Amino acid sequence: MTRDFLAKKSIESLRQEVSESGSLSLERSLGLVTLISLGVGAIIGAGIFVITGQVAANHAGPAIVVSFLLAALGCVLVGLCYAEFASLIPVAGSAYTYAYATLGELFAWMIGWDLILEYLFSASTVAVGWSGYVISFLKDCGITIPAILFAPGCNVVAMVLVALMTGLLVVGVRQSTQFNNIVVAVKVIAILLFIIFGITCINQQNWLPFIPKNTGEFGVFGWSGILRGSGIVFFAYIGFDALVSLAQETERPQRDIPIAIFIALFISTILYICISLVLTGVVPYNQLNVPDPIALGVNAMGIRFVWLRPVIKIAAIAGLSSVVLVSLMAQSRIIYRMAKDGLLPDVLAKLHPQFKTPYVATIILGIFSMLAAGLLSIEVLSELVSIGTLLAFFVVSIAVLVLRLTQPDLHRPFRTPFVPWIPLLGALISGGQMLSFSLNNWLRLLGWLLIGILIYFAYGRNKSVVRLESQQENKEVGA
Ligand code: ALA
Repeated sequence: MTRDFLAKKSIESLRQEVSESGSLSLERSLGLVTLISLGVGAIIGAGIFVITGQVAANHAGPAIVVSFLLAALGCVLVGLCYAEFASLIPVAGSAYTYAYATLGELFAWMIGWDLILEYLFSASTVAVGWSGYVISFLKDCGITIPAILFAPGCNVVAMVLVALMTGLLVVGVRQSTQFNNIVVAVKVIAILLFIIFGITCINQQNWLPFIPKNTGEFGVFGWSGILRGSGIVFFAYIGFDALVSLAQETERPQRDIPIAIFIALFISTILYICISLVLTGVVPYNQLNVPDPIALGVNAMGIRFVWLRPVIKIAAIAGLSSVVLVSLMAQSRIIYRMAKDGLLPDVLAKLHPQFKTPYVATIILGIFSMLAAGLLSIEVLSELVSIGTLLAFFVVSIAVLVLRLTQPDLHRPFRTPFVPWIPLLGALISGGQMLSFSLNNWLRLLGWLLIGILIYFAYGRNKSVVRLESQQENKEVGA
């Protein structure tokens, strides 16, 4: 038995693909500002609009601010590793492509499969959260949607959002990014309004005790609560990694992607910290366990700010839709890459002749994401998304180290500083956060990976372009 399932793609062949152009390649149309906007569009969503309240009420209290800071630290460390790869191998495919170049085909496939878990289910999770805000907003306007249309297990409202975003993505990158720019402006302005007016309503007594005493159970307040909280609010940062999967559509990927990752992460971190300070300052933390904590915060600000309530709901509705959009966009690019490498059927690498988008991959993903949004519970989905993303982060951190050791002389336009410490710490934090999840979540992840292994050995292994090419070369050498 040969070990050809550990075959690697050479960095040179990947770089050659970067210079591809013409009707068979994706169109390069993304500049720095659009990338930053896509980053913020992908990051700020259900994490802040829904999850913040639960973490403050059940795990960290006002110290949720520290949870957000800890989670941001992990993301910045891993972000530095992503940035090195994005500048070194600026093709679509993200961690999947990086693993192909460093760890070999089977690992690459598994990470690609894991990224499907991240983006596909993250779009579904956020769509379910979106349906909650839409229904509540319409109710405020006196319109009641029949309960049958958003029942758990048959959430038609969430499915409609996924269908709309899928349609937009098929039509074009430009249209999608224009829509995203508007949405990002709406959500950032609304959040700023909440912060600015909220500051005037803070009651400092609500911040005391800043770190509520641990109840005796691990993860329920105290320092362990802050740690558990950081694992949960990690969901709020997911999305910055989506930018690297757009490398092949970016005008200057080697310069712009690393910059965009850090600016998007910086903006989100500052906003998250300010929001959580204001929120826990205006509402006692033990009252925050609601699905719309920011709207509750506005209520607590009193009658003077009643006009802000619909603004926040509209911002949440807009904000969550952009997360679905960018998640599906990133996902379709990874599937496109995997299909080009022969690990998935090549119809998934087909580009639309007019729109130049990977439309078959986008539509098929949209259908799966709609089904997941319609059928599965938001808790199961969001935990699975977080553990899957952390696994990709862990692998990317290790892959940076492997490539530094195996190919130290490669030209790296962006270099992760303080190697090996930053990648090691990034892997440690990601691995540590994974360990904080329940056994059930681990079993679901392992089940998903097992299905992936079966598919690889049944299909991808026989169709892999890298493998077929190396077999061809061997034959020629032997002839
Ligand atoms: N970070 C994204 C959100 O919070 C997934 O919705």
